[in-house]
Amino acid sequence: MTVAQIRSLPELLVNQIAAGEVVERPASALKELLENSLDAGARSIAVDLAEGGVRRLRVVDDGSGIDPEDLPLAVARFATSKIATLEDLERAATLGFRGEALASIGAVARLAIVSRRAGERHAWRIACEAGVVSVPEPAALASGTTVEVEDLYFNTPARRKFLKSEATEFGRCDEAFSRIALSRPGVAFSLAHNGRKSAHFPPEDARRRAARIVGEDFAASAVEVRSESARLRIGGLAAAPGFTRPNREAQFLFVNGRFVRDKVAAHAIREAYADVLHHDRHPAYVLFLEIDPALVDVNVHPAKSEVRFRESSAVHQFVFHALSRALDTKIGDTKTGDRPPFPLSENVAAFEKGGLSPVFGQASLAMAQPTAAYETLFAAAVTDERRAAASAPEAPPALGYALAQLHGVYILAQNAAGLVVVDMHAAHERIVYEGLKAALDAAALPSQPLLVPIAMTATPEEVESAGEGRAELESLGFDVAAGGPRELVIRAVPSLLADLDAAGLLRSVLGEMREFGASRVLVERRNELLSTLACHGAVRANRSLTIPEMNALLRQMEATERAGSCNHGRPTWFQFGMPDLDRLFMRGR
Ligand SMILES: Nc1ncnc2c1ncn2[C@@H]1O[C@H](COP(=O)(O)OP(=O)(O)O)[C@@H](O)[C@H]1O
Ligand SMILES: [Mg+2]
Repeated sequence: MTVAQIRSLPELLVNQIAAGEVVERPASALKELLENSLDAGARSIAVDLAEGGVRRLRVVDDGSGIDPEDLPLAVARFATSKIATLEDLERAATLGFRGEALASIGAVARLAIVSRRAGERHAWRIACEAGVVSVPEPAALASGTTVEVEDLYFNTPARRKFLKSEATEFGRCDEAFSRIALSRPGVAFSLAHNGRKSAHFPPEDARRRAARIVGEDFAASAVEVRSESARLRIGGLAAAPGFTRPNREAQFLFVNGRFVRDKVAAHAIREAYADVLHHDRHPAYVLFLEIDPALVDVNVHPAKSEVRFRESSAVHQFVFHALSRALDTKIGDTKTGDRPPFPLSENVAAFEKGGLSPVFGQASLAMAQPTAAYETLFAAAVTDERRAAASAPEAPPALGYALAQLHGVYILAQNAAGLVVVDMHAAHERIVYEGLKAALDAAALPSQPLLVPIAMTATPEEVESAGEGRAELESLGFDVAAGGPRELVIRAVPSLLADLDAAGLLRSVLGEMREFGASRVLVERRNELLSTLACHGAVRANRSLTIPEMNALLRQMEATERAGSCNHGRPTWFQFGMPDLDRLFMRGR
């Protein structure tokens, strides 16, 4: 082959190439159209699809409309009304700004736009078919904009072949639609496929909208997340620990109103759940992070599904603390988190099927001697309880008063709502664990100097991170120095973790510090150890407790953070309300 001459590509071909990224499939075209409607201030948006969106995709909105003179520009490449300068780009608050969606769609489909601005005598229509733009002509439409896309990829058969079945493409469209509907609960949305209504959302609050899209059980049990700093704000709902899921599908993070997948925030959220989550379960959440647009780059990819934060470690810490605070619920708090429902949630049933976590093999450890930790915590609580009983009557405790112990495993108690059943081992395990953590948190992680320093080979990045993060490493109990451009020398290690592989541990710490600006690897390892200790230290099944001891345990549960679930994320108690019991006995029917 001879070397070809360099030449500019024709505009249609350029748009078709761009379409490969912006309009990968019907769902991505739909996302672009919905974002345009929201940018135009629509309060109500109706979507109508045929054959998975490939045959037809129509979006009708009541937004501001497009000026008739601007119609040809709307379908021109790199033409946008949303930004004009580089500064605008750096602080773009609209969902769109690249000005290429409509041009790309018009290059690979039959596109028609009908729009009417307030004050115009009638609407105008423009069409763009395989890049050929028509002259605007008068049309009929009450207000807003209707965009119709037909026969996606009719002129690019190679791309068309990559489309999946109608059901799959519709599924993707439904997903894109749901994410956007979730991000704007105040806007009405409807979706129809092949003439059949599939969703209809009136304007409502965020919890109602989440109930429709993520699930009633999620919305009813989720804790509210709300935090604000000088430059960051987060709000939304996060699943209570007992309501986790087997996959990551119900994780919705919106950054400045845009659905994104972000490693930094996802990691921070996961960390916040570390203590209350079984390792193969995933939290569900709908979170809205707001940040000064100048501090986040959304222009990483044409589809804008990823963002880059200017200060990712600040974002990581902010999100982690906001979530931790929301999850630190005590029983009886007004936050909805710790109110297990009746009957048992689908979640608990799943746990039962999958078997319990190995650490929780309490049957084999039956009747172990209670450890010192248990004795001291317990003794203190018993005296506390006596003291409380002697003082003036207060509001009735959330978990009520113990009635009896059932088969050495459960405590039965009566509270205002009805019957409370507590798994005494699971509950006590959490109490011991939180106690151990608090005791250790009060002091810095103690450091233990090594008799013989460990030299480890490291990458230049690791050597650099170790230098920059020296102070933080010291607070974690590490003393590390560079031994050369590719060598680190470990002179002291966190003493609690002295038996673990120091080089491996340091490597994970440095990796996290580089990626997220902070590392919780050590705290996590330490917590894993404490959790094992707590499991052994907690009161065993088959140990009989006296009524005062049981009451002491209930009072301790009320006073302990996260007491609604054990260290492995299993619930520690259930409420059986009087109506639930009445229903069982068909009373009052
Ligand atoms: N539904 C709509 N309502 C009002 N104006 C719209 C609508 N859709 C598109 N436009 C106009 O067309 C322009 C081009 O749209 P698009 O190609 O998606 O680029 P961008 O959204 O990046 O500006 C927008 O800047 C906007 O002015
Ligand atoms: Mg757009």
